[in-house]
Amino acid sequence: MLGDVTNPTGKSFGSDNHAGAHPAVLAALAAANTGDVIAYGDDDLSRRAEAMLCSASGAAQALLVFNGTAANVTGLSLLLRPFEAVICAETSHLNVDECGAAERILGSKLLAVPTPDGKLTPDLIARRLGGRGDEHRAQARVVQLAQLTEVGTCYSLPELRAIRDFCRENGLLIYIDGARLANALAQLGCPLTDLAACADVLSFGGTKNGALGVEAILIMTGSLAATALFQRKQLMQLSSKMRFLSAQIVGLLEDDVWLKNAEQANAMARRLATAISGLPGVRLAFPMEGNGVFAEMDQELARALQPHWRFHVWSASGNGRCVVRLMTAFDTTEADVDALVGAIRERVIHVKQPAS
Ligand SMILES: Cc1ncc(COP(=O)(O)O)c(C=O)c1O
Repeated sequence: MLGDVTNPTGKSFGSDNHAGAHPAVLAALAAANTGDVIAYGDDDLSRRAEAMLCSASGAAQALLVFNGTAANVTGLSLLLRPFEAVICAETSHLNVDECGAAERILGSKLLAVPTPDGKLTPDLIARRLGGRGDEHRAQARVVQLAQLTEVGTCYSLPELRAIRDFCRENGLLIYIDGARLANALAQLGCPLTDLAACADVLSFGGTKNGALGVEAILIMTGSLAATALFQRKQLMQLSSKMRFLSAQIVGLLEDDVWLKNAEQANAMARRLATAISGLPGVRLAFPMEGNGVFAEMDQELARALQPHWRFHVWSASGNGRCVVRLMTAFDTTEADVDALVGAIRERVIHVKQPAS
């Protein structure tokens, strides 16, 4: 039997959504909470937030929305006609975790592709291009990528550029789900403009990176902006008190709080991955390239940790092994990580190791 494994700091590794809001965001909200302000984004703070996003990314237009699912659905709505389809990774949030929102609201078919590591490639995309020109088939039009992916991997710039070139040659548009875009930039060490240039439309995540709840849609291809305001309103994403969404963006972008937050989360994930990947019976299921550590371990070990440490069991296999997802956030500390590592290290020696 494994003993009790306590969690001295109480930090959750279950999701970057479990973290609170960053003080800079709360301060920006408090500063925005003065006097009366025109509604629906026709205010100085909202114009400032949009200008900051456009200047950081090179976008023609930036629209704020309430959450990541809405960013994906609204962003995709700018790219698709009713008979067109979206090629996406089988593991994508769009395909798995949005309750069929895109299928219901846009009516668009998702062409999901199995991938080894959450990433699409030109070859994988090409496999879903059959039936183009056939009136009986939904027509592939958009390639949807997540950066970071849902299994914590990060597309390199050459990988993204290869996909972009392939898409241009094949009449496909690109949408990037950037719920963890800041973590990807911290990993790649490149400016947002480089990454954004690989998409026609992308989302810019705030909520997982220190906001209370806001995401942006960045429209890179100017011609797509014409209908964007109407689409956002019809999809119920136009906030009447827009200044409070905008304040969160300004709080994150000023002084590069968003990048510092992502760097901290990534550094803590790196610390965790480095420490546990060398332990007997523990190995990384996917490369650690952001703020998520996917570790394969014995189910008995995961069960012993779970009463005290919050994390998701990502998948379990019949051989007593499982993959757990350990997420870090902007406020994860070295003490949080070291406590979890200590608990795993202490218990790992009690677990019978699989024959190699
Ligand atoms: C890759 C990805 N995209 C989008 C989202 C946003 O989803 P939500 O609608 O919960 O904000 C998430 C949240 O977990 C995510 O992991």
